[in-house]
Amino acid sequence: MNEPIVIKELKCEYLTNPLGLDVVKPRLSWVLESDKRGQKQSAYRIIVASNTENLEKNHGDLWDTNKVSSDQTNHIIYKGGELKSEMSCYWKVMIWDKDDQPSKWSKSVMWTMGVLNPSDWKAKWIGGSPKKRPSLIKRRLKKKSTPCPLLRRKFKIDKKISRAIVYVTALGEYELRINGKKVGDHIFAPEWTDYKKRVQYQTYDVTDLLKEGENVIGAILADGWYAGYVGPGIPINHSFYGVNLRLLMQLKIEQLEGSKKEIVTNSSWKIYEDGPIRRADHFMGEIYDIEKEQIGWDENKFDDTGWQAVTVDNSIVIRCVAQLNEPIRIVKEIKPIALTEPKPNIFIFDMGQNIAGWCKIRLGKSNCNINSPVTLRHGEMLKPDGTLYTTNLRTAKATDKYIINHIEDREFQPHFTYHGFRYVEITGLKTNIKINLDMVKGCVISSDTPLAGMFESSDSTLNKLWQNILWTQIDNLISVPTDCPQRDERLGWMGDVQVFGQTSIFNMDMASFYSKWIKDIRDSQREDGRFADFVPYPYKRGPHLKMIGAPAWADCGVIVPWQMYLNYGDKRIIEQHYESAKRFINYVHSKNPKLIWKKKRGFDYGDWLNGDKIKDKSYPKKGGAIPKVVFATSYFAHSAELLSKMAGILGKNEDLKYYRNLTIRIKEQFVKEFISKEGEIKGNTQAGYALALYFNLLPKELLSKTVLHLINAIERYNGRISTGFCSTLKLMLELARWGHTKIAYDLLLSRKFPSWFYMIDQGATTMWERWDGYVEGRGFQSKWMNSFNHYAYGSIGEFLYRIILGINFDENEPGYKHIIIKPLLGGDLTWVRGHYNSIHGIIKVEWSIVKDNFELIVSIPANTTATIYIPAKNLESCTESKKPIKGIEIVSFEENVVCVKIGAGQYKFRTELP
Ligand code: BGC
Repeated sequence: MNEPIVIKELKCEYLTNPLGLDVVKPRLSWVLESDKRGQKQSAYRIIVASNTENLEKNHGDLWDTNKVSSDQTNHIIYKGGELKSEMSCYWKVMIWDKDDQPSKWSKSVMWTMGVLNPSDWKAKWIGGSPKKRPSLIKRRLKKKSTPCPLLRRKFKIDKKISRAIVYVTALGEYELRINGKKVGDHIFAPEWTDYKKRVQYQTYDVTDLLKEGENVIGAILADGWYAGYVGPGIPINHSFYGVNLRLLMQLKIEQLEGSKKEIVTNSSWKIYEDGPIRRADHFMGEIYDIEKEQIGWDENKFDDTGWQAVTVDNSIVIRCVAQLNEPIRIVKEIKPIALTEPKPNIFIFDMGQNIAGWCKIRLGKSNCNINSPVTLRHGEMLKPDGTLYTTNLRTAKATDKYIINHIEDREFQPHFTYHGFRYVEITGLKTNIKINLDMVKGCVISSDTPLAGMFESSDSTLNKLWQNILWTQIDNLISVPTDCPQRDERLGWMGDVQVFGQTSIFNMDMASFYSKWIKDIRDSQREDGRFADFVPYPYKRGPHLKMIGAPAWADCGVIVPWQMYLNYGDKRIIEQHYESAKRFINYVHSKNPKLIWKKKRGFDYGDWLNGDKIKDKSYPKKGGAIPKVVFATSYFAHSAELLSKMAGILGKNEDLKYYRNLTIRIKEQFVKEFISKEGEIKGNTQAGYALALYFNLLPKELLSKTVLHLINAIERYNGRISTGFCSTLKLMLELARWGHTKIAYDLLLSRKFPSWFYMIDQGATTMWERWDGYVEGRGFQSKWMNSFNHYAYGSIGEFLYRIILGINFDENEPGYKHIIIKPLLGGDLTWVRGHYNSIHGIIKVEWSIVKDNFELIVSIPANTTATIYIPAKNLESCTESKKPIKGIEIVSFEENVVCVKIGAGQYKFRTELP
């Protein structure tokens, strides 16, 4: 029997019940679930009310759309009464199905508005007495670390509370505490933005933490991205945004009988600058001294007479915006799987997984010596003698220290640092005690984006590859998409994101994460139109200033917004970003009027870490690197083309014509300048062919010749890969597109170095930065750049979803309103199953080969349609749910592939394989 249609996943601005929005026309969405074939929405009605009673009575005092004929379930723009600061909005939706049958009301959800106007901030920025930013010379020496300040304020509530909401942010990062408890579970709030332009505030409901009578609110502040180390190498790379840590907070208390009370940061607060967190830095680690604890400082009974008055800092002028991306949280706790003692009293715990985060550790009189620290050092790999390998962390110390006295054992963890590690080395424990695995736990931190995808197959190494890619993503979503979590770098490298973007979206719901980061991209854009190579971009002077505008890196400023449109149908992102993208293309164009991108390529990384960077006797020294001008021009054509499409979507017809024409001319120039009549592309590299094909730069008559050159270029490498970050996935997708399935699968499943499986055979639990990060016999690659947790080569995840499972979006009906399912069988795979939870609901694919038969089970979400391509020997033997396939709309049967069009529902196809 058909279950009634269910309305699920009600979201506002991509978030469930968000607090503190600053979008005055927020967008609402939901997902429909039904097992009825072809089920659709024909109309909806949304009610938004200012309180729950009104909502229950169906009284939409803010907005009642009444019945709207529409199949839209996403990005419905709120058009009700004006939304003001701190308002609460409760809403629900009902829909009418394809037969005009009404559904029940959805469950009720809500959002609240944040602090919309600067003048609504009654709070003042407060902190310690002002310090001067050290001069360049001093900064070059070493950062002086100071203890994390504690701030507090006592206040009284004399009536019963109905609700209490706190809005808070910091320059630096904060942990907010009320009556001895941490507020919320956010880590590193307010997270990373360009603090010269924007800082995010967070909103928490703290009703349950407050009580009638005396209360205490307090905060710990730390350097974070604001004042701590950021980016590679030299000691000078810290305090980019400032040195004075500041807190801004306002607490709004509503009392039962209607009166309101406000507690804000101002001169009535006190500060203590000699607390137990002696040093905290993302790269360096944290030092905790228990003797310095101010026991009970965040509670009422504490005597703060020794504390100082805070400084009220009126010099700060900065825009406070709501955080609309999922906060960083501890997303998982893991137990170590092994313990070794490679040298006396040096213990190494193996977490079994390369993670970003830290350790929780039990310490106290049972295992610590008085006044001598217990030290935790973190690393991704071990040296051959079993001791910790930390050379690849460069200047990041990744060291936590605890100075403990004779206390009862308790659990410790750092607050304001994180490490990229699989192994933790612990020293300084009492000797002659038994150390066991239970002593530590690994805390995995990540921006808490929901999982969206899954992949599983008959090949266990391929499954491990998928898991490693996912782990690499988890470890590198730390407010921004970082290149790596371990060394002194951890930057939002744009080149890496533009190749990994689509995979990241399959794995997780990235809509709000990228919405935030795309704003960061705009904040980093230069006046002249260039996007930075990594984002946020904190540099004001020095050698890194040149790290702007590089081909493929800067292009991410066009590509990722476009991916948001394709995957989520997000038109607003395109609207907001269009002028920025245009300025970038115009810049490149103005410097290169002949349309070959020769000039102004900044740091010009090219196809980063391609085969020519591999150090191995068995591997060709040269022949992998695509000439940089070819590389750059191919990206120029691609970005110009995406811009023209954006213009089309926004109805900017003049621009559409102009940029379409520009694209055609760049492509023509590309062919003229770089391609011979025989289809050979300058440099004759795998990468060159992959990019030219993938970006559709070639006229029809050259296509088959170019594909042949690509095949030859792979043969020249004895069936091995020679591509770098920006071309590897494209090579694989193009092999699949042009029918070279066997070569694609051979490369994917190859255990021969360099390959994905090679990393796994060496024990990788995350993706490596380099194909040859570690080679048996030779050892580690360059100590300067050798991360074992870098997602760029994980871009192959897209191949797993789009080619093997076969789940594809349709550019003409973005956001998976229309879905294309086209699995490509190959390798020795006998079965594959997986899913993608799209913005329209969950798309499932499962296929298997049993002898000569092929079975494909697909689930298509309600309110969408799909086109399915199924390999088949003939039409006659094809069935769907055991009935002849004829009952379904057949679009075509060509070259042993039957193509059908279906509506929502579950389908089970069976065919005879050709
Ligand atoms: C980063 C990369 C990045 C590159 C730019 C490296 O240090 O780790 O992932 O894309 O620099 O060339």
